[in-house]
Formats: sequence, structure tokens, C-alpha cells
Amino acid sequence: MCGIVGYVGKRPAVEILLAGLKRLEYRGYDSAGVAFFREEKIEIHKSEGKLENVEKLLNGRAPAYQDVCCGIGHTRWATHGKPTTQNAHPHRTGHVVLVHNGIIENYQEIKREIISKGYRPESETDSELFGFLVLEQMDRGASLMEAVRQSFARLQGACSVVIMSEREPNVVIGVRNGSPLVAAADPAGGTILASDAQPLLQFTRDVVFLEHGDIVLGTEKGLRFFELETGKPVARASSRLDWSVEKLDKQGFPHYMLKEIYEQPTALMDTLNGFLDRARTDSFPLAASQPGVALLEKAREITLVACGSSWHAASLGKYWLEKWARVPVTVELASEYRYRDPVLGANALLIGISQSGETADTLAVIREARKQGIPTIGITNVRGSTLSREADATFFTFAGPEIGVAATKTFLAQMLGLLIFSGFLSLKRDGWHAGSLVSLDSVSRLFEDMIRIPHLLSDFLGNGSSATGLAGVIRKIAAELASAKGFFFIGRGYSFPVALEGALKLKEIAYVHAEGYAAGELKHGPIAMIDREMVVVVLAPRDQWRDKTVSNLQEVKARGAIILGIGNASDEELIGLCDHWIELPSVKVDESLVPFFLTPVIQLLSYELALLHGTDVDKPRNLAKSVTVE
Ligand code: F6R
Repeated sequence: MCGIVGYVGKRPAVEILLAGLKRLEYRGYDSAGVAFFREEKIEIHKSEGKLENVEKLLNGRAPAYQDVCCGIGHTRWATHGKPTTQNAHPHRTGHVVLVHNGIIENYQEIKREIISKGYRPESETDSELFGFLVLEQMDRGASLMEAVRQSFARLQGACSVVIMSEREPNVVIGVRNGSPLVAAADPAGGTILASDAQPLLQFTRDVVFLEHGDIVLGTEKGLRFFELETGKPVARASSRLDWSVEKLDKQGFPHYMLKEIYEQPTALMDTLNGFLDRARTDSFPLAASQPGVALLEKAREITLVACGSSWHAASLGKYWLEKWARVPVTVELASEYRYRDPVLGANALLIGISQSGETADTLAVIREARKQGIPTIGITNVRGSTLSREADATFFTFAGPEIGVAATKTFLAQMLGLLIFSGFLSLKRDGWHAGSLVSLDSVSRLFEDMIRIPHLLSDFLGNGSSATGLAGVIRKIAAELASAKGFFFIGRGYSFPVALEGALKLKEIAYVHAEGYAAGELKHGPIAMIDREMVVVVLAPRDQWRDKTVSNLQEVKARGAIILGIGNASDEELIGLCDHWIELPSVKVDESLVPFFLTPVIQLLSYELALLHGTDVDKPRNLAKSVTVE
């Protein structure tokens, strides 16, 4: 996820920007840069790759920058355009220089307009286009603040921007319109801004989390807030961050599990970076450094083997691989499969999925397959794990360390890995696929949507503190459901494996009885359990299965169940059937990606119910993070 830092004040700005960007490195990025005032002119230094490349550009000249006191910096994670130096931020358009985090959804329309007016964008990014809008307004006489406000009104999508102009030296303006931005007054005089609070903590613990639709004006004298829409000044209270070392470890979250749920956008982004050759956004190849590519390409049937949550990820993988790649897939519980006598074809591939890479049953299957000469791939989050040493090839997910026992971010990263495999195999059109393949255009769109998912998920999750945000809504619902006798999670299609995961999460961390069911299966037995004390959580996004799921919901509604619906805005029929309602974001993405929004909802629901039941969320009883016994 892109990271932003801005500073104006009395201290050496270049050092502050670089130190701030270092603290944002954890968000994941593939290029970086800084821009700062030297007298009245703005200099930009940027590079593809890591921050060290920018440091090298500046190296040896540090004393020369001692008098610099105003600048902005950025770590970019590529969405529109490759991770090149040219696409790296900051971007200059005339006297305007900016950094941006998020997505401008109507960038095509803005690009056409800008070009028709004779401007020539130099990068492939959506971000640079915003600079032209601001430049145009300023050239018509608007102040930087006014120009930013008017230009922002043109944008669709969630983003934040930090911007400067050579016409107004030593002024930094920041806007939050969706993507987070935090600001603080430097006690020594000045202002610091960043995408999260970490770069600010070296100066102060009193920080202001900008609200959606806020604009902040930073000068050497301090900071002032305005409404983006009206330009009127607004008062914003600061929050005192009282972060102990342990809390810093948890980055302010009360539990690792919650922190890890909120790290999912980053886990997805890093996994995309790890799996794909991100320098090639035109054809979406798997990274050549991934040793399993050839094995994957040769597979004519795939068996996915796993346990627990990893098995749920595998179950989703089956839907995706079949749809996108038309390859026959079976999904197996490792503990069962290892004691069967399975039949595999000549060109079969066995993929073992395990976040820890140490699960005894999954490892046993891999060993047996290898003995029989069947090629094996591992998907794991842990480098050096047994799975990565024993499988013929390993794809690593990049979720980072997961401390909470319940799988959250590793689960989403596994899902993404399998969806990438599906898209990749769909692109390998060498004539053997079982049935007709989806169009190349739709596979390209799938990859483009995957690349947008970290941003979209981050916007959906918000920062967790607002009562009206996702976590707030779920907290309120959980309080009303805490004494329920039990839960059914139901869904069809892609929502079915998520329903299974929802029930598992609730059992393991809240110790509440729950079952996940294919919505169409309820009437074959479990519907007998439905009464007024039973909650049915229905996962019914607007997808090809939605109407069937809603029909199944009618069956449980008629029997008095308490219904919690998860679906899309304006689905009035569904909302009318539900006692409680959680809305998915209104974003246009391929329906294969909807599980990436559904999953955090069921994770947060289990988390909130666990808090109400007073369980040990991060270390639930009887469970271990690595299950090394069979
Ligand atoms: C659930 C959970 C477990 C694991 C299972 C397999 O939250 O964490 O169900 O998914 O024990 O573990 P790995 O993925 O390490 O093989």
C-alpha cells in the first residue's frame, strides 16, 4: 500500500522524510521518492525498487540538505502502471508536485480531458493526472488550497493526496478522501503528515486522524483543518497515542488477531508482488523466480490438500481453478487423503497448502506423493518450513508473521495465491483445457481487479475506530447476538467456503457452536435445528448464486431463525428478510473477488463475539499455531 510523508518546519526535512518512509516500509512498495524545496524550487529524487535507491541518489550530499525544511515523500505500490522510476512519486506537473495514495476511478475520463487540453502526462499513473487539474486551476488564479479543493471535486474513488507548489513555498497541503492520513504539530514548530501514525511518533504522541473529506494546511506555524467540500475551517481534536512497547508491537490493536485482520490489505499486496512479475502489468506472468511455474503449467489435473482454514482456501481454489483455467480439481482433507488409496492421472499435480508449513498430515501427503513420483507444490507462509523443504517447489505467501493462533491474513494470502494460479493457467492457452475458456479480456480484468483489491479492502476495513465503520457495525450486531444458542453460516458458490471458514473461526476463538453449510443443503437435515434462538448468517452478495441463496433464506426465515445478512447495498429484498445487516462495499470487481470482502466480515464477527464471551482471542484453548501431530 502506498505510504505518504510530508513535513514543513524547522528541522532537516530530508532526514525526516526518509525516516518516516522507513517506518512505512511495512506497507509494501516497489518504488519510492522524495521532493523538497531548495529555496523556491522543488527538487525530486525518486527510483524504482527500495528506499535505499533514493538514499543512494541523495547520498554523500546529506549536509547539503541540512537547510531543507519542507518536503514530501512516498513509497508506491503500483496499481496504474508498472513499478518504474517514471511512475514513482512524487509527480511534477509544472510548479505543482504531489504524492498520492489510493485509486482515481475515473482516471480514463480525466486523462482524455487533460490530453485534449494539450497537457502531456509523463507517467502511466492516475496520480499524475490530479496534478494537471490543480495546475490548471492555479494558472487561472486559484490558491493551492482552492485549486486542490476544486480539483478534488472531479475525482471518483478513495484516495489521499499531499501536495506542494513552487508558487507557495513551504506549504504542504494534505487531503483525506477515503485513504487514511494522520497529521501532527511538530512541538519544535511545523507540521508532519503521514499515511499512519508511526512516522509522527518520533515527534509527538498527540496526533489528528483526519476525517473523510478533510483538508489540512501545514506550514511552519502549525496545522489548520478545513472541509474539503466547502473550504470552511473545522476544528479537529488530537488523540493522545499511549503506545507501550507491547502495544507498538500490536500497533495499537488490543489483540494480534485484530491487527492481523487489518494487515490483510498489505498481506495481499505483498503476495501479489511475490507471485507476479510486477514489472509486466500487460500480461501478468508469474514471477520467473518462482520455481514451481513449470510444474504448474504442465498440470492436467490438480489435487489440493490441506487442513482447517487452509482447506477452506483450497475449496475456494477449486471454484476458481475450474472456472478460470478449466482444469479438473479435487480438494482433499490431508488427514483423510493420506490413508486412502487415491487414483491420480499421469499429469497430475499435488498442491499442499499450509500457512505454517509444518502440519503433519499435509506433510505426510506430500511425502507419499513424491514417493509415487507425483510432482508436488507447497503454498506456505513460512520460509524454511518443512513443507518448503520437502515439496518439489514452493510458492510463499507474503502475509508476514501471524501471531494470533486463528488464521486470518495467511488465509486471505492463500486464497489470493490460488486465484493467481487460476488466472495464470487460464492465460496458458495450449489447447488441452477441459471445455471453453473465458475470454482473455476477462482474465486481464481479473488481474487488474486483483491489483486493486488491497486498496479496496483497506477502504472497506477503515481504521476500525469509527462507530459507523465496518468494525463498529459488526460490534453492535455481535452485542445483540451474543446469547444465541448457535450459528449457521450459509452461502453458495464462492460464499460456501467462506461460510465454512466463518463457522470455524467462531468455534475456535469464541467457543460458540457454529456450522457452515452450503445454503442448498440446509433442508436436507440441519433445518430441523432452526428456531428463534438460532442465528443464520447468510452470505448473499449479488453474484450468480444470489437468487438461489435468497430462496434458501426464505426457508429458514419461515422457521423463525434470527437472520444476519451480508450482501450488497440496495438489495432491498434481502435486507427485508434480515434482522441484522452488513453491507459489502459498492465496488465493481469480478465476482471471484467478493470472498476477499466477505472473509474480513466473518473474521470480525467472530472476534467481536469472542470478546463478548471473554475468551483468550490470540491463544484459544486447546489450539496450537502449528499442528505437528496427526
Ligand atoms: C484455523 C486454523 C487452523 C489451520 C490448520 C492448518 O484458524 O488456523 O484450522 O488452518 O491447523 O494449519 P496450516 O495452514 O498451518 O497447515
